[in-house]
Amino acid sequence: MECRIGVISGDGIGPEIIAEAKKVLNKIGETCGHTFHYEDILMGGCSIDATGEPLTEEAIAAAKASDAVLMGSIGGNTSTSPWYRLPPEKRPEAGLLRLRKSLNLFANLRPAYLYEELKAACPLKEEVIGDGFDMMIMRELTGGLYFGERRTEETDGVLTATDTLTYNEHEIRRIAKRGFDIAMKRRKKVTSVDKANVLDSSRLWRRVVEEVAKDYPQVSYEHMLVDNCAMQLVRDPGQFDVILTENMFGDILSDEASMVTGSIGMLASASLNDTKFGLYEPSGGSAPDIAGKGIANPIATILSAAMMLRYTFDLDAEAEAIESAVKQVLREGYRTIDLMPQEAAGVTQVGTAEMGDLIAARV
Ligand code: IPM
Ligand code: MG
Repeated sequence: MECRIGVISGDGIGPEIIAEAKKVLNKIGETCGHTFHYEDILMGGCSIDATGEPLTEEAIAAAKASDAVLMGSIGGNTSTSPWYRLPPEKRPEAGLLRLRKSLNLFANLRPAYLYEELKAACPLKEEVIGDGFDMMIMRELTGGLYFGERRTEETDGVLTATDTLTYNEHEIRRIAKRGFDIAMKRRKKVTSVDKANVLDSSRLWRRVVEEVAKDYPQVSYEHMLVDNCAMQLVRDPGQFDVILTENMFGDILSDEASMVTGSIGMLASASLNDTKFGLYEPSGGSAPDIAGKGIANPIATILSAAMMLRYTFDLDAEAEAIESAVKQVLREGYRTIDLMPQEAAGVTQVGTAEMGDLIAARV
C-alpha cells in the first residue's frame, strides 16, 4: 500500500518523538510491503519562526492533500517563550485549533489503558487499580469554548473577558453517534459527561445523547457530571468504557486519565472527520523542559502511528504488530525516565531513540 503521510514534527520534544514513530513505521513498511511517503508540514512555534504564522494556507493545503497527518507536539514554555508575547491568534496553539477546524476533525479518540507492566508507575493504590482499566475518551474537538466567540474589553476602566460555550444539536448528535459506534466495538457502555446541573449547553447535550442512545439498545449508558467524573477517574477507573464529552471537559479529563495510566507519555490520540482522513498525535504536550535531551517517551507517538494504520489505512494487523511490540518492550523491562518507579528493580532505563529501536526491532 502507498500511504501519503503529512508529518508535523512541531516544537519541543516533537521532532524527537516523531523520528521514533517514523522508525517504527518504516520497519512495518519493510516487513509488510507498504511504502510510507512523508511530507513535512510546518505548524506551531517553528512555523511562527519561519513564516510569522503558526499555520499557513500552504500547510493546510498540504495536510488536506495527505491521507493522514502524524503530529508530534507544538508550543513552548508559556511564561518564557517569545511566542506567547504574540496576540493569541498568532500563537502556536492557534495553528493546531485552526487545523482541527479546517479539516473538520470533530471526533477526538483518546484511549487510556493500564499496561500490566506499568502498574508500578500508576499513582493509584493497588486496591483501586484492581484488574486495571481500559477506556476510550471520545472528546468533541471543533466546538464549545474553544471555538466560541471571545473578547476582552474595558468598560469604565474595568477589563472584562468573555468566552462563549455553544453547541448545536447536530454537533452533539454526530459526536454522540461516534461514541456509541465505538462502544459497540468495545464493552458497550457509554458514560456521557456534562455539567447539566448548571449549563444549558450540557442540558442540550444530555437530551441529544438520550435520543441517540435509543438507536443503540445494546449499549448501556449513563450521564455523569464532570466534577464527579474527575473524582471517579481516580476512585474507580475500571468502571469506564467510553467517556463521551465536550471539548473542554475532554481536554481536562484526558490529561487526568493519562496520568493514571502511569505517564502522559503513553496516551495516543486520533482526531477524525467524516472521511478516512485523520490527525494522529500524542495527547501530551511539547515538554520544552526536556526537549533535546533524548529522554522523552516516544510511545504515545508510536501508538498514535498505530492508530493511523488502523483508522485511516485499515491496516489492523500492522497496528496490532506495533501495539504488541510496545507491550513486549515494556514486559522486557525497558522504560523511559517518566515510567521509572521509585525503586527500579528489574527495569532498564533507556532514552528516546533506544526505545524506538527496541520497538522497531520487535514489530
Ligand atoms: C490537547 C492540547 C490542546 C487542546 C492545546 C495544545 C490547544 O492540550 O490536545 O489536549 O487544548 O486541545
Ligand atoms: Mg490537552
